[in-house]
Amino acid sequence: MKVLILGVNGFIGHHLTNRILEMTDWSVFGMDLAFDRLDKAIDNSRFNFLEGDISINKEWIEYHIKKCDVIIPLVAIATPKLYVEDPIGVFNLDFEMNLQIVKQCVKYKKRIVFPSTSEVYGACPDPEFLEDESFLIVGPIQKERWIYSCCKQLLDRVIYAYGTRGNLEFTLFRPFNWIGPRLDSLDVAKEGSSRVVTQFIAELLMKRPITLVDGGSQKRCFTFVSDGIDALMKILENRDNGCRNQIINIGNPWNECSVKELAHMLKRLFMEHPRHSGDKSFSEIIDVSAEKYYGKGYQDIYTRKPSIRKAQELLGWNPRVGLEDSLRLTLHAFLDENE
Ligand code: UGA
Repeated sequence: MKVLILGVNGFIGHHLTNRILEMTDWSVFGMDLAFDRLDKAIDNSRFNFLEGDISINKEWIEYHIKKCDVIIPLVAIATPKLYVEDPIGVFNLDFEMNLQIVKQCVKYKKRIVFPSTSEVYGACPDPEFLEDESFLIVGPIQKERWIYSCCKQLLDRVIYAYGTRGNLEFTLFRPFNWIGPRLDSLDVAKEGSSRVVTQFIAELLMKRPITLVDGGSQKRCFTFVSDGIDALMKILENRDNGCRNQIINIGNPWNECSVKELAHMLKRLFMEHPRHSGDKSFSEIIDVSAEKYYGKGYQDIYTRKPSIRKAQELLGWNPRVGLEDSLRLTLHAFLDENE
């Protein structure tokens, strides 16, 4: 099988590529702006890489959509601070660029495996989010954070509509706070623009305070990337065509914790780390208001737990890595890479 991955150097892209090359005889065709995470893949004869930009290298993309069997467009801005700072950039990249890819998949009758997001559920009050039943709820226009959720939701709806009219074969997957090695870089965290787990680890490393937005009672279910990739591989294998035109949550409902609990757990794990147990001081954990941290355009999501019934039934999948192990593995990899 020939797989096209746009955004192949990203967090999900490079983990998926490594797994495909290790476990299958498939070929991967990938494009990204950089290749710093692709050290394991780059010399593999089944890996074909172009250093490029999806807004520029359009001919290469169209040629490879024609040539490949499955298309996985992973290019997107996916950090909340940027949703607020650059909502038009989010729209241009996450929506417009990806819409062109979707339309080419329709034109060339190619299967698309598209990353939706847990963010589409927004402020849904359900205790567990169900792919085919839960309401998708966002806030007012002035709260620009929701542009990411809206962009993704509209793409989900467009893809679904093409699918139900017989013009596109798709699977939408919804990652729930996947974490793991190479999630976000230290440089991004230095600016305060990374996702929460990397942000907290970077603060611990730099001995800066860990900031709990509005007290940190909001909860997330953190999913270790190897579990996520297990599910994604089963989606790509698509046994008996069972994933055809399905939407599937990929998250770990058993790894739910508040941001405050996350901060304390990461601090403890950092203090236990062999290179840091003798440090003279450690980051304090402080509160900050959402407006101060993110600006006026932010609004938080208080609980976000997936139902994984569909993933269990369609894929025979269950996540296996618990919260503490997920955080320890992510922390150690980050420290090994950045120290
Ligand atoms: C993320 C991003 O939107 C996407 O990566 C993705 O689509 C989705 O979740 C997902 O991975 O499922 P969110 O979980 O809100 O959204 O993003 P984080 O930046 O990781 O923040 C998690 C929580 O920690 C938020 O409530 C935020 O306010 C809080 N936070 C963040 C802090 O308390 N302190 C910080 O320094 C950073």
